[in-house]
Amino acid sequence: YTSVTPYTTLPSVLLVGPSGSGKTALVTLFERGPASPDHPEPAPTHTSSSPSSTELSISPSHTYKTDLDSAAATSTKKFLLIDTPGHPKLRSSAVLAQLRSPEASIKVPHSGEKAPLRAVVFLLDASTLSSDDLLPQTASYLYDVLLSLQNRFHSRKGSRAPASVPVLIAANKMDLFTALPASLVKSSLEAELGRIRSARSKGLLDSGVGQDDITEDKDDGWLGGDGSEKFKFEQMMEFDVEVEIIGGNVIGDGPGVDKWWKWLGERV
Ligand code: GTP
Ligand code: MG
Repeated sequence: YTSVTPYTTLPSVLLVGPSGSGKTALVTLFERGPASPDHPEPAPTHTSSSPSSTELSISPSHTYKTDLDSAAATSTKKFLLIDTPGHPKLRSSAVLAQLRSPEASIKVPHSGEKAPLRAVVFLLDASTLSSDDLLPQTASYLYDVLLSLQNRFHSRKGSRAPASVPVLIAANKMDLFTALPASLVKSSLEAELGRIRSARSKGLLDSGVGQDDITEDKDDGWLGGDGSEKFKFEQMMEFDVEVEIIGGNVIGDGPGVDKWWKWLGERV
């Protein structure tokens, strides 16, 4: 049987990532366009304390700037970009719980409605990623996001697999000379996710219990393929989770946001 989905709201994209990575700055840029005399750079931002959503228009064949110029084009699709606070105490477990839900829908902030979830953007600061503290902190948040999506795959009812939710790892602040290139962001994260994976599985063995009241066998804390020695993002395809890493920047000179915009346009 097919279930009725009473969506009245637009498709949504969830924007997550550590505090200070530039999520709110990115939403502001998408919303009002690049710097102009009216809107000087840098776009004002503030530390977020609660989620918020912004309606955006996109057409997959256009660049971000042409979309702004031709917002009335017939091929334009609308979607909600949901900004979330990155602070560890504010990244409510609700976000992760929602990612795990087989429904693939997300609560729209300040509205009782649920919107179909089409994609997740994990924004990180590539200019500080090589620091001893920030790599583990960033990777452990990413681990939880990917594990939630992986566990979602197992939560299907009957034979119908839940709709897949792709993940864009957006490596921000490429305008700064300390920024790691996307290829190094990828390999550093893979190595760190692998470390977290073996540390967590040892912890689980030592304590004899899982972190949650998880009863289902497959619903464990091991990210990626069973028996794999090294973690690779490609392993997430086993759970129908596509992961792509693309560099960019919200402020300053660099590749900008066009590739992220295009990725979104192909998925909303
Ligand atoms: P939380 O709300 O705490 O989760 O943080 P956030 O991810 O929303 O970060 P926010 O958008 O507030 O940006 C943090 C800082 O990074 C601000 O000072 C931004 O101006 C700056 N920033 C954002 N993007 C870039 C970028 O591409 N390059 C540089 N150099 N700075 C950036
Ligand atoms: Mg913010």
